[in-house]
Amino acid sequence: MAREGPLGDFMQNARIAPLSESAVRALMGPAPGAWMPVLEPGDINWASGYPFPEAVPVDGMNQAWHDMIARERDQAFQYLGARGQGYLRDWLQEYTRDLRSHADGVMLTLGAFQGIDAVVRAVVDPGRSIVVQSPTYMEALEVFQNYTPHVVGVPRENHRFPIDTIRRLMTRQNEAGHPVAAIYWQADFQNPTGITTSLEDRQALVELAAETGVWLIEDAAYRELSFDQALPPLKALSPDVPVIHLGTLSKTVGPGLRIGWAVGPTRVVHAMERMKKDLGHPLGEALVGEWLHATEYAAHLTALRMAYRQRADAMAEALRPLADQGVTFQRALGGYFMWLDLPQPWTGDRISAQLRHHRLSVLSGSHFVLPGDADPRAVRVSFSYAPMRTFPEGARRFSAALRG
Ligand SMILES: Cc1ncc(COP(=O)(O)O)c(C=O)c1O
Repeated sequence: MAREGPLGDFMQNARIAPLSESAVRALMGPAPGAWMPVLEPGDINWASGYPFPEAVPVDGMNQAWHDMIARERDQAFQYLGARGQGYLRDWLQEYTRDLRSHADGVMLTLGAFQGIDAVVRAVVDPGRSIVVQSPTYMEALEVFQNYTPHVVGVPRENHRFPIDTIRRLMTRQNEAGHPVAAIYWQADFQNPTGITTSLEDRQALVELAAETGVWLIEDAAYRELSFDQALPPLKALSPDVPVIHLGTLSKTVGPGLRIGWAVGPTRVVHAMERMKKDLGHPLGEALVGEWLHATEYAAHLTALRMAYRQRADAMAEALRPLADQGVTFQRALGGYFMWLDLPQPWTGDRISAQLRHHRLSVLSGSHFVLPGDADPRAVRVSFSYAPMRTFPEGARRFSAALRG
């Protein structure tokens, strides 16, 4: 049947050997990483969600590399069988012990990102819907849209948890013939807003999942980086609820390692393992296994939490004077990011373009919402990566940009 609109045109152009509808949809969206700012020397980078350079344990990794190669020789370069890989798997079993019931399994993924991709393949059919926080992690939005056109955002509500909105959206999607298969949720220091879901609200979400049988996809990328007491993850709240928990070493060790994991009911973990169809990254796994074997990971995390807390405090302090110009934000309680709500008539796109002239790079809130949704009139700033000495100067540049 002929299709109307841009999707139809696109498919017709590929008359002879057409692409799949999902590939066409992917091509019509922005290119991967199109949101990434181009930085020039002298720019202040508050855009990137990377660990700061000294947070990456380069010396420890150097030692681990030498030790690992000396012992494993060629084995580390084979498809599997390096002892370091075994160390990593043992560590992961232990590290995720509190998250797992007897009916749960755990698997390694190439970062939390591959976990997101694999879990959607395992639990979401194309006609079904995925509910997401709005705003949310833009790359998750891209992945979801590869698999289903029915992705619906739950807008942030300032003073209460949007559980009623979630229920309403679920009913609406069910009635429209696109029943909700999964809710994607970041409960800890969410990317991009930095907000955290309270214990009571976590319980409400878990109860909703138990009652309706939808999957909760818990993206816990920033969970370890709490400045104060950490709340229990969704996965730990009730062993019988369908929760898949995704973790990663990207924010606590280094994203280039591509080491993440998924914890969930054995049935879904097995399905994900079969569908991801790759061997992981044996050399990187052996290296990280070796490093973890020689490292007190809990102490590593304690030092990181202190460092990021200091950064968050310094960024909040630097940004405080912007309140006089109508910018509002909450100091982060963990993670990498703060979300700055802008005064009228600014939008995230307008201020981030203006900030380019002032050599300050931030990410417009518009990158974190679904295509067609309104610009949230906000920007994400990252306190994780730029040198702390740039914070006061960055705030001055922000202030100058607001003055026009
Ligand atoms: C919320 C969230 N999930 C997942 C990821 C990707 O993590 P990984 O590098 O482990 O794939 C990120 C990275 O920015 C993130 O912010």
